[in-house]
Amino acid sequence: MLFLDSSEPSEIREIFSWGVVAGITTNPLILSREAGAQDLEPRIRDVIAASRGPVSVELTHETEAEMLSEAATYHAWDPARVCVKVPFSEVGLKVLSQLVQRGVSTNMTCMMSFNQAYLASLAGATYVSLFSGRIRDMGYDARPIIRETRAILDREGLKSQILIGSIRHLMDVNEALQDGAHVVTVPPPILRKMLWNPRTESTIEEFNTAWRNRTRS
Ligand code: E4P
Repeated sequence: MLFLDSSEPSEIREIFSWGVVAGITTNPLILSREAGAQDLEPRIRDVIAASRGPVSVELTHETEAEMLSEAATYHAWDPARVCVKVPFSEVGLKVLSQLVQRGVSTNMTCMMSFNQAYLASLAGATYVSLFSGRIRDMGYDARPIIRETRAILDREGLKSQILIGSIRHLMDVNEALQDGAHVVTVPPPILRKMLWNPRTESTIEEFNTAWRNRTRS
């Protein structure tokens, strides 16, 4: 599946009309860049209205009590659609496991390794988010991490879905899907690159030109 990594309602509405996207991921960096001074609640409500499927909203506090309170606030905005995004840490695991017990949809995020993704899966995360581009920024290959994570989820019957984020290039999407990602969350400019092929354009132009210039007997 493909999710859109965006908090821009007009862009989200437009791309959802293609019928290919199944959910949304946001994070505090995306929201601070795209939403500016707008409060979080109206912005997320706009994003929910413009989309379908899960909408990941990330916690920004760092203590267990604050994170649980923040999670309850986000969950209440739309219990069926909001997926609480919990940054990976020891405290994050404690928070996530409590949310799982309460039946809240969760996305454990900012993970860079097989070990982290396995722990998040054991804790019951709905989605385990590995950050392909940021892993590669450190000089590591993201592909074996995705493959090994998928293998252990399948072998142990763990229910989490692997979500690959931090997509920088079109090939990151293709490789993540080939390596066993359940979901890739794609920034709008990269999703638009998936449309384009010069041979498709020239073929359509050839067909339509032939039709326009046809001779009638
Ligand atoms: C995923 O859920 C994150 O929002 C995102 O993909 C992080 O990507 P970045 O490395 O471009 O910040």
